[in-house]
Amino acid sequence: MDAYVSDLMSKMTVEEKIGQLNLPVAGFSMTGTKESKGVEEKIRAGQVGGIFGAYGPEKVRKIQEIAVNESRLKIPLIFGLDVIHGHRTIFPIPLGMSATWEPALLERASRIAATEASAEGLNWTFSPMVDIARDPRWGRISEGNGEDPYLGGVLGAAMVKGYQGDNLSANNTIMSCVKHYGMYGAGEAGREYNTVDMSRLSMYNYYLPPYKATVEAGTGSMMSSFNVVDGIPATGNRWLLTNVLRNEWKFNGFVVSDYTSVSEMVNHGMGDLQEVSALALRAGLDMDMVSEGLLITLKKSLDEGKVTQQEIDQACRRILEAKYKLGLFEDPFRYVSEDRAAKEIMTPENRQASREIAAHSFVLLKNDKQILPLQKKGTIALIGPFANNKRDMLGTWVIGGEWEKSVSVMEGVQAQAGANARITYAKGSNITEDKEFINRLNFFNQPMVTLDGRTPEAMIQEAVNTARNADVVVAVVGESQSMSGESSSRSNIDIPESQKNLLKALVKTGKPVVLVLFTGRPLTLTWEDANVSAILNVWAPGTEAGNAIADALFGAYNPSGKLTATFPRTVGQIPLYYNHLNTGRPWDGKESTKFKSNYLDESNDPLYPFGYGLSYTTFEYGDLQLSKTELTGAETLTATVKVTNTGKYDGEETVQLYIGDPAASVSRPVKELKGFQKIQLKAGESKDVSFSITPEQLSFYNSDLRYDWEAGEFNIYVGTNSRDVKAGKVNWKK
Ligand code: BGC
Repeated sequence: MDAYVSDLMSKMTVEEKIGQLNLPVAGFSMTGTKESKGVEEKIRAGQVGGIFGAYGPEKVRKIQEIAVNESRLKIPLIFGLDVIHGHRTIFPIPLGMSATWEPALLERASRIAATEASAEGLNWTFSPMVDIARDPRWGRISEGNGEDPYLGGVLGAAMVKGYQGDNLSANNTIMSCVKHYGMYGAGEAGREYNTVDMSRLSMYNYYLPPYKATVEAGTGSMMSSFNVVDGIPATGNRWLLTNVLRNEWKFNGFVVSDYTSVSEMVNHGMGDLQEVSALALRAGLDMDMVSEGLLITLKKSLDEGKVTQQEIDQACRRILEAKYKLGLFEDPFRYVSEDRAAKEIMTPENRQASREIAAHSFVLLKNDKQILPLQKKGTIALIGPFANNKRDMLGTWVIGGEWEKSVSVMEGVQAQAGANARITYAKGSNITEDKEFINRLNFFNQPMVTLDGRTPEAMIQEAVNTARNADVVVAVVGESQSMSGESSSRSNIDIPESQKNLLKALVKTGKPVVLVLFTGRPLTLTWEDANVSAILNVWAPGTEAGNAIADALFGAYNPSGKLTATFPRTVGQIPLYYNHLNTGRPWDGKESTKFKSNYLDESNDPLYPFGYGLSYTTFEYGDLQLSKTELTGAETLTATVKVTNTGKYDGEETVQLYIGDPAASVSRPVKELKGFQKIQLKAGESKDVSFSITPEQLSFYNSDLRYDWEAGEFNIYVGTNSRDVKAGKVNWKK
């Protein structure tokens, strides 16, 4: 590769080298307001390194032909797209997939996504997003793996493996692009693109680990984020892009900016386009998405001594290396296959995988009197704006996804209900009645949320009549597709008012109400939790939504998902996360007390803690058994609990290991996830679940940012979620 790339670069002009650093968008883009102009001419002129937004064999072939037939050096283009949770066959949104706690499932979904995407000419995806998110107001919490650094790293690495496989140059693997480096999930007030300000200690201990884990998993590329880090935008931040990423973590792929994040540095107050472009290159950025700052200004900056030839060469080399690794020099059309596109996209197997993964992602939040699973008899009323709806099954970021091909809840339930059950339906309410809100949800003038012409009262009345004639009500409510995702921050995270009014009217009928919740984020469900019989959180399940939901509702699959982000009781508690510090005046866990760290008007407790999720069966945890309580140095501690399925159904349980370090040189979280195992237990069955603990799991970054462990006492916890745990203590000497 080195020799090939050096030879090629020896033939390139400075302008052609700079051209490789340019990434325009082709055609329709979902994410920005700036468009790329004159792309074909630029390709001919050697001013384009890659294209994003173009897919489909015919389209990609046509563009690639321009590059390899009409440009001077015939360098092939790399083709990227946001393939976030599936390409054509759509899987649950990432936050949903993370709730499976099954890395193998995320790897499988990413493998299928790569297979479908690569058949349509793509060889690069802007995924996974591994930003830690502690603020559910932020709409992009839906795109990541939640709030935990360890779980986030394990799941992100699994996705990288799924996309890239073992051989990047195979025609069905694609390069991953880990984003948004870094700390993008920590924008103040959950507001999109907002300022990030945090200590290096927090970065190293909580926010950086997932990026690091994906670098270790071999991601070929990374995306720099929009936000500032320590006052300098990530895209121009040398400490982030070079010191940490390349020098500390030994990353050897390339870094692309986010959409116009180079030129946005002008707004951040870093200088004019020439200055910010030079800043980005010097910081270690290799490719400029859409802003063309590098393309337009780098030659001038070189002539004026603001950047060096070596800096340009290095960035160009990294882009060419990526193309080499993808096998594009050998065959620029390797990823273009009409034949594969016809045979390997949306196959029954892919749809089946999506259905299974979706079922595993559902989180049962409440199940009073075992109302679920539903009996296949009597009258089941399906009510709500998502009950007979295909569009909102897919969730955010589905560029290649075709919502018309998704399975509605109505279709799924009808297919499984059998001859003895009657399914009735009423829409019950609009997604929201707020016209201003609807305008914002329907961005780019797409009719994503439409209004039923009837009055809210008339719709509710119809729903109440339907409910009264039923034995059980399944209320399918929540957030629509564009209520979460990019640029979809919310200051109020309730179920929208029109739907809440519907729920209140349904509860008033006295019929049992099962809430099937669509959402891209943790919502505030305090009223719902107190008033409905059951809550099954299905996120946005993807193409097979209705089938997977019916699998769970009727018990063909027993729900096993666990939350990866805390559900607060009220928006005023945010940010609320399980791995918080203790403070000097900790809350007593019961009531609000003067001069303690608590609220006058609300408990500190979340509604549902991190790691929480029920099953149709029940699991009992025996006491925690520790192999030793006194340890020295590199010894291994074994922590074991007996878990028993004490209910009537076979089921799966994710057993979680947490560790607390109550005395150290820096204040440490009350507990941190350090391991987990998802096990299957038949009704009545017991299993001993053991975790091996070594000093690695005790290690953290201290105030000198040195990674090590400190001798002393440690609390070991094993349990069903981050709150309900069995505890033990050990003393560990150096
Ligand atoms: C988003 C990225 C995305 C890019 C390209 C940006 O606005 O922040 O996540 O990959 O657009 O679509």
